[in-house]
Amino acid sequence: MASSFNSRSDKTLARLAKRWQGRYLRDQFKADPDRFTRFSMKVGGLFADFSKNHIDAETQAALFAFAEDAGFTDWRQRMFAGEAINSTENRAAWHVALRDTRLLTDVLREQVEHERCRGEELVRNIHRSAKYTDVVNIGIGGSHLGPEFVCKALSALRKPIVRPHFLSHTDPRTRSALLASLDPQKTLVVIASKSFTTIETSVNTKAVLDWLTENGISRQRLKEQVITVSANAKAVSSLGIPENHRFTMHEWVGGRYSMWSSIGLPIAIAFGNDEIVALHVGARTIDNNFLCDQADENLALILGLLDIWYASFMACPTRIVLAYNAALRLLPAYLQQLIMESGGKRVQRNGEPISMASAPIIWGGMGQNGQHAFYQLLHQGAHVVPVDFVLAMDEPVANEPGYETLVENFIAQSEALMCGKSADEVLQEGEDADLVPHMTFPGNRPSTSILLDKLDAFHLGQLIALYEHRTFVQGICWNINPFDQMGVELGKRMAGEIGKALRGESVAEHDASTSGLVALLAKLFRRDQ
Ligand code: F6P
Repeated sequence: MASSFNSRSDKTLARLAKRWQGRYLRDQFKADPDRFTRFSMKVGGLFADFSKNHIDAETQAALFAFAEDAGFTDWRQRMFAGEAINSTENRAAWHVALRDTRLLTDVLREQVEHERCRGEELVRNIHRSAKYTDVVNIGIGGSHLGPEFVCKALSALRKPIVRPHFLSHTDPRTRSALLASLDPQKTLVVIASKSFTTIETSVNTKAVLDWLTENGISRQRLKEQVITVSANAKAVSSLGIPENHRFTMHEWVGGRYSMWSSIGLPIAIAFGNDEIVALHVGARTIDNNFLCDQADENLALILGLLDIWYASFMACPTRIVLAYNAALRLLPAYLQQLIMESGGKRVQRNGEPISMASAPIIWGGMGQNGQHAFYQLLHQGAHVVPVDFVLAMDEPVANEPGYETLVENFIAQSEALMCGKSADEVLQEGEDADLVPHMTFPGNRPSTSILLDKLDAFHLGQLIALYEHRTFVQGICWNINPFDQMGVELGKRMAGEIGKALRGESVAEHDASTSGLVALLAKLFRRDQ
């Protein structure tokens, strides 16, 4: 597949980026009264205003050409067809087929639909029995972040049928605090791990199963209370969980794309099967839009190319996602895995280094909280940070105290970042000349405002799929494999070695810093023979 580097469009974009150095977004709006309409789009219930970005028709056309040079249309077709586009692991990245099973072969469709029906049946039984008040999902990374983001968002809307909890890291304090708040007789446990070899998940699983048995749950009962989701059937079988509580997922579903598989079960257990259906339908509206041939009608393509524009051509090494509804507060954490585990690569598919800056560092948080903290850097710092402002229209609370304040800020911040405040304006306000440089805002800082018509599962599905496809576009244009994550392995392996060192079992040599830390921390552990 052709690499985009050193292509004609690449050079055009570099030239255009230089030109944008001396251009102001404020002037773009003055020159083009239609700019908002021209550079905004609605897909289903998701509206994106990308007019406050450093683009015009010419730049956008060059970005589209860049994507085509990278073979975007072809790669997209290959992803939807289930080809092994995850080249280093020789497997498909077919999460889109979980939202539209018509894409699958007959055999796979039957398997996926069968698994889904089993899940729905299980959820109906759980709700019908009314035996359980809480469900604990034990899992980490892709086996945690998506379901927790969705559950937290839906929890803001209504009381769950079964309260969802998430155990990911192994800090015993988190686990004991959670378990102390639960009734072991009324707690379901979902062990979610694609590989079923993840150390954090194994440690938490053992601790939670011990807690259940120590609290009088018989072996038989335990089997009824535990559900597993994994692609590793062999490893799961060692736990002795009955067949009807074991759920599978296919290898071609990447961990960070897996909430569309049975990994999404905790969402259904907490809020009902309909929420899963709504999530999928929402995501499908974005999939359909992503498949459209008209580049300037393809929202994920447009936004994905903007991400590349800033990271690779406009020297912006970071990007920020700011959620204005508390319900969306876990969005940045979810996106950090999605975008940085996918894009955090420095070599192309063929092993050669990428010749331009690639995936940016993603950070973020709650918009209003950030305004009173790190927004200082966004407005006056030395780095330009492209922003995604995200807001869901929450009509039921729109007229309660505070919602309007939140909306005001959502709109004002993008205007302030773009307009800034010149030295003349500061002087005209009668400020002391010494203070002028400190009170000047450079402005011209780009942002995209994403608005959801409603806060519900359908719109969450849209939002998530939009970011998935943006991430795909970036991977293709940088000619990297966005579907593997080999960078997470080294540290995991070394942790195993350090464990041996802490227990005094290892003779492996370490540098002085590492050995010093081992010596300091080994003292913590009792080694009863
Ligand atoms: O270590 C990274 C990772 O492999 C992620 O890609 C994955 O989502 C997470 O760990 C959890 O993996 P598993 O679902 O296999 O436990």
